[in-house]
Amino acid sequence: MHYDPRINDHHLKHDPFTALVVPRPIGWVTTISPSGVVNLAPYSFFNAVASRPPYVMFSSAGPKHSQRHAEQSGEFVTSLTTWELREEMSATSADVGPEVSEPEVAGLEMAPSIAVKPPRVKKSPVALECKYWKTIELPAVGAGAIAYAIVIGEVVGIYIDDAVIVEGRIDLSGARPIARLGYLDQYAVVDTIFKMRRPG
Ligand SMILES: Cc1cc2nc3c(=O)[nH]c(=O)nc-3n(C[C@H](O)[C@H](O)[C@H](O)COP(=O)(O)O)c2cc1C
Repeated sequence: MHYDPRINDHHLKHDPFTALVVPRPIGWVTTISPSGVVNLAPYSFFNAVASRPPYVMFSSAGPKHSQRHAEQSGEFVTSLTTWELREEMSATSADVGPEVSEPEVAGLEMAPSIAVKPPRVKKSPVALECKYWKTIELPAVGAGAIAYAIVIGEVVGIYIDDAVIVEGRIDLSGARPIARLGYLDQYAVVDTIFKMRRPG
């Protein structure tokens, strides 16, 4: 089949688009509200987009707390989501008011970051401490369109649990990172790693 996403003539029961770019890493974004509340939410429109210097981005479907706080405070932190933390990750996606601290709701222990104020998820083996750089607003044209905004940050500090450093390399096979698949309730776990040589 072939369809035009501007009119969504796919004739499928569910919009297939997010099932077509998989797996998507999940950035578990911590920010601090103007009144000092720690905010935590998962974003699967998330990725590293540069490495020297490192930059990451997450995309907000409309202006949500994470975007607003990152813009207002100039900082955010992303923690790696793992199999062990899957239920807590999901719990922190609840649509709650800005006065509610999701880590408390999910019973999650946080740990201080070094380079920025928002804390990291303590049990997560990796956290990226970011200085907000810029927001890029995407055009929201067409019926049912949502005003997405891409929030970009420079990674200025990186936490790595020493336990995942094996012979000078990062080994996350034990931590089993989780990723988002197509539909609201579908995830994948990274537990099989294979090697392949690059030509040249
Ligand atoms: C695995 C997962 C991935 C998500 N990815 C996104 C995303 O990329 N963009 C988005 O706007 N919402 C995403 N959400 C929904 C947000 O987590 C949810 O709207 C949350 O309440 C936003 O919190 P905030 O307002 O504190 O930022 C995702 C939810 C889950 C469970």
